[in-house]
Amino acid sequence: MKSLIVYVSVEHGNTEKVAKAISEVLGAEIKEAKEVDPQALQNYELIGFGSGIFFSKFHARLLQLVTEMPQCNCKAFIFSTSGYGNTNVHDALRKELERKGCRIVGDFACKGWDTYKPFKLVGGINKGRPNEDDLARGREFAKSLGN
Ligand SMILES: Cc1cc2nc3c(=O)[nH]c(=O)nc-3n(C[C@H](O)[C@H](O)[C@H](O)COP(=O)(O)O)c2cc1C
Repeated sequence: MKSLIVYVSVEHGNTEKVAKAISEVLGAEIKEAKEVDPQALQNYELIGFGSGIFFSKFHARLLQLVTEMPQCNCKAFIFSTSGYGNTNVHDALRKELERKGCRIVGDFACKGWDTYKPFKLVGGINKGRPNEDDLARGREFAKSLGN
């Protein structure tokens, strides 16, 4: 299956670590959103979209790419790293991808080192995350997509 992982990871490289772990399992191409021509997304059967979470949203660059993406009938999944590390902030992106014709086959979230303002004073929260356990969960998630 021709697969692509598109990510944005601007704060600490947290999401990039997850993107790499997932791409290795899937044997997928991996690209920063900047490097992706929206039209080229039509060439893939499976696409993973991921970034950190900023004020409860995915990074604007990732959302912009999805806005510019043509209608496609690929499978897609969503992943994120964030302070809270949960998937309930994925809904808006999920809906937008569905509107583009994608079939959502899963989503994954884990905690990431977070130095947003008040946390910065104490060196941030979740230092060291994603850790090896998080990446192992990411790999398991990727394996489950193969089914
Ligand atoms: C300005 C700012 C806003 C953030 N907003 C949220 C948020 O709303 N919810 C959350 O759980 N984490 C939030 N975070 C934490 C980031 O999502 C987290 O550090 C993420 O792992 C960064 O990913 P990256 O290193 O791949 O860019 C915020 C961080 C910053 C700097």
